[in-house]
Amino acid sequence: MANVDQNEALFERAQKTIPGGVNSPVRAFRQVGGTPRFVAKAKGPYFWDANEKRYIDLIMSWGPMIVGHANPEVVAAVQKAAETSFSYGAPTEGEIELAERICALMPSVEQVRMVSSGTEATMSALRLARGFTGRDLIIKFEGCYHGHADSLLVKAGSGLLTFADSTQNAPSSGGVPQDLVKHTLVLPYNDVAAIEEVFKKQGDQIAAVIIEPIAGNMNLIKPSKEFLTAIRSLTSKYGAVLIYDEVMTGFRVALGGAQSLQGVTPDLTCLGKVMGGGMPMAAFGGKKEIMSKLAPLGNVYQAGTLSGNPVAVAAGLKTLEIISREGFYECLTGQTEKLMAGLKAAADRNNIPFAVDSEGGMFGFYFTNEVPTSFEAVTKSNIDAFKKFFHLMLDEGVYLAPSAYEAGFTSIAHDNAVLDEIIAAAENSFKKL
Ligand SMILES: Cc1ncc(COP(=O)(O)O)c(C=O)c1O
Repeated sequence: MANVDQNEALFERAQKTIPGGVNSPVRAFRQVGGTPRFVAKAKGPYFWDANEKRYIDLIMSWGPMIVGHANPEVVAAVQKAAETSFSYGAPTEGEIELAERICALMPSVEQVRMVSSGTEATMSALRLARGFTGRDLIIKFEGCYHGHADSLLVKAGSGLLTFADSTQNAPSSGGVPQDLVKHTLVLPYNDVAAIEEVFKKQGDQIAAVIIEPIAGNMNLIKPSKEFLTAIRSLTSKYGAVLIYDEVMTGFRVALGGAQSLQGVTPDLTCLGKVMGGGMPMAAFGGKKEIMSKLAPLGNVYQAGTLSGNPVAVAAGLKTLEIISREGFYECLTGQTEKLMAGLKAAADRNNIPFAVDSEGGMFGFYFTNEVPTSFEAVTKSNIDAFKKFFHLMLDEGVYLAPSAYEAGFTSIAHDNAVLDEIIAAAENSFKKL
């Protein structure tokens, strides 16, 4: 196929100077096989690859492009900011405006510090939680991804009884010292008994619990109300910091993030993706009492040459302005639900076991009969069927995340005509499965 050739040529060339040919691993298509599409340009809900083939994008840069690619209002804001230099390394009024807007949209965030990536946000939030509590242990949940800082790249030890035994943990990446891993406890998502047990045994040593309040890195998995309530009451009781990693869900599942939907208030929140409108921009924030431990006020050090970058701030501010307009989330949520219902109906017509879920502009679909509630359940879905479906959809011109363990993302530019095209493509693909 001539269409794939240009992508293949670029992939071959890329692999000579870039490890694996990509600058972030999941882009390499390792889980589904085949050649990554090299993007030449994008607009609204579409991108075009190196052979000028058009795809409907259902990743949207893994979340940020909620107002569509190259949104004219965001482009104009970025152009204006770029004209007065790209970076100063000194504070700007735009940063204050962005901080004020974030604090207004997310009332649990009283103060916020800007950084350049989600990884930096979670890594810094953990350091802050440790500095604030004077404790070392952290709890994370299986299947949640919080960026690639050392202490977060940890797998669970096996068996419920060993949950509190961190010597059973194995780093899930080379180069991560066992010494660091021993401070991270990994528990199953949605398992109330497991977290109660750990707090009972070691509650006074736990600095923080970090969680994706709607998980998007093991496909889409929602927490139960009991699970979130238990985490909140245990962290409060034992004086641990509750960190919501809303890098993915913040401003994507709702204007106020997942925390505005679930009735549980975290101590710290990590943000990224949408808040930078596609530019390298992220943040962490929360209670003033905790945030005031950060340098230059406190002794927890955190810094960044490009933090609060003025061009990224301009993109973020304009994006937050657009998503704050009346009806934005009603429309986004409605379109995403419509897409999921369309996919489910198409699968049903073709007798394919298939389940769907969504929240705001974030969705999950699963080749199984029921929506999963844990990482383990996701691994039991039909991953081979997903891989085939992925390639069939790609041939049809629909770009899904190249892994069964990722959520999908829509934008306000995914209008009815686009949804109809995706659903027709899915119908054709299901027929061939
Ligand atoms: C929930 C969550 N936290 C943190 C990160 C890390 O963000 P970044 O890739 O910007 O470092 C991601 C990235 O996908 C994420 O989904």
